[in-house]
Amino acid sequence: MKLTEIIEIFKTKLNASYILNSLERAADFYNESDNESERNDPGEILKNSPYSSPASNFAKSLDAENISRNKEVPLIKLTNVWKLYQMGEVEFAALKGINLEIYEGEFLIILGPSGSGKSTMMNLLGCLDIPSKGTVFLNSKDISKLDESELAIIRGQMIGFIFQSFNLLPTLNTEENVLLPLEFQEEDRQIARRKASYLLEIVGLSEKKKNLPSQLSGGQRQRVAIARSLAVNPPIILADEPTGNLDSKTGDYILDFLDGLNKREGKTIIIVTHDLELVKYATRVVYIRDGEIEKIEKQTRNEPGTEIESNLN
Ligand SMILES: Nc1ncnc2c1ncn2[C@@H]1O[C@H](COP(=O)(O)OP(=O)(O)OP(=O)(O)O)[C@@H](O)[C@H]1O
Ligand SMILES: [Mg+2]
Repeated sequence: MKLTEIIEIFKTKLNASYILNSLERAADFYNESDNESERNDPGEILKNSPYSSPASNFAKSLDAENISRNKEVPLIKLTNVWKLYQMGEVEFAALKGINLEIYEGEFLIILGPSGSGKSTMMNLLGCLDIPSKGTVFLNSKDISKLDESELAIIRGQMIGFIFQSFNLLPTLNTEENVLLPLEFQEEDRQIARRKASYLLEIVGLSEKKKNLPSQLSGGQRQRVAIARSLAVNPPIILADEPTGNLDSKTGDYILDFLDGLNKREGKTIIIVTHDLELVKYATRVVYIRDGEIEKIEKQTRNEPGTEIESNLN
């Protein structure tokens, strides 16, 4: 079995992540101090970005090229999407007829209480799962019509995932975890290491490059996952409770960073969360309850400010 296949299994099949997540939250509770005061300003760090060429990896894909130029067609479209889980004799509907269009450059927050179907929805939006009924279109392509290798390519080039349960590989250290997606892209080793260093600086973990996930706090693991999600510089970033394990200062820092990527680089950010605080970053908020969309609200927010200067692309 190839490493890529093992990782896919990690991403899609193992429910042990729920248990790990609880343990990590508990560990976090006892490990509050992360030396936040030494964190650099995101604007300053972004100026030193090694992602200088617009012809970055994802743009090599024709689909990604099309996506970056087409604002008329939804980037992701869900049409009457249902997700049914079989529980012995009983069928449980985690999503019930979701209709949603997401456009390039949006900062979308999907807000709902625990158990409302947020992670289920994120798995569908990220092509990690296919619906039981209905259709998910990514860049006008029906994802259920693609085979697993095509889906893996789309995921690898176009979507940066920040999972609720991190999905770090336990035997790889911080730097290696961040390097992993770049290795799949056959990135030059030296450039890859520069990118990893840059991203670890962004998330304030330059000092922890050699630590294994088990030697990090929950919040630090979350930050490694964020750095890894940004490694291939994807046009779409999908995050499941990205600040759930972070103290408020680190959480604000990460969100300001994602906000900068959205405003400055036009990256499409989709966050699923139960945290009302995050709504202020959104261009639209989708309220979900019991597997259904309750309402969708457009948000007005500040236009690109001058606080973050970046050449990340
Ligand atoms: N594999 C599964 N089998 C059966 N039921 C499932 C499965 N995965 C999720 N569910 C159920 O589907 C519903 C939605 O789950 P989901 O993980 O999407 O919720 P969530 O909104 O992300 O919750 P949280 O905020 O707690 O992470 C829940 O009621 C959950 O129990
Ligand atoms: Mg969830």
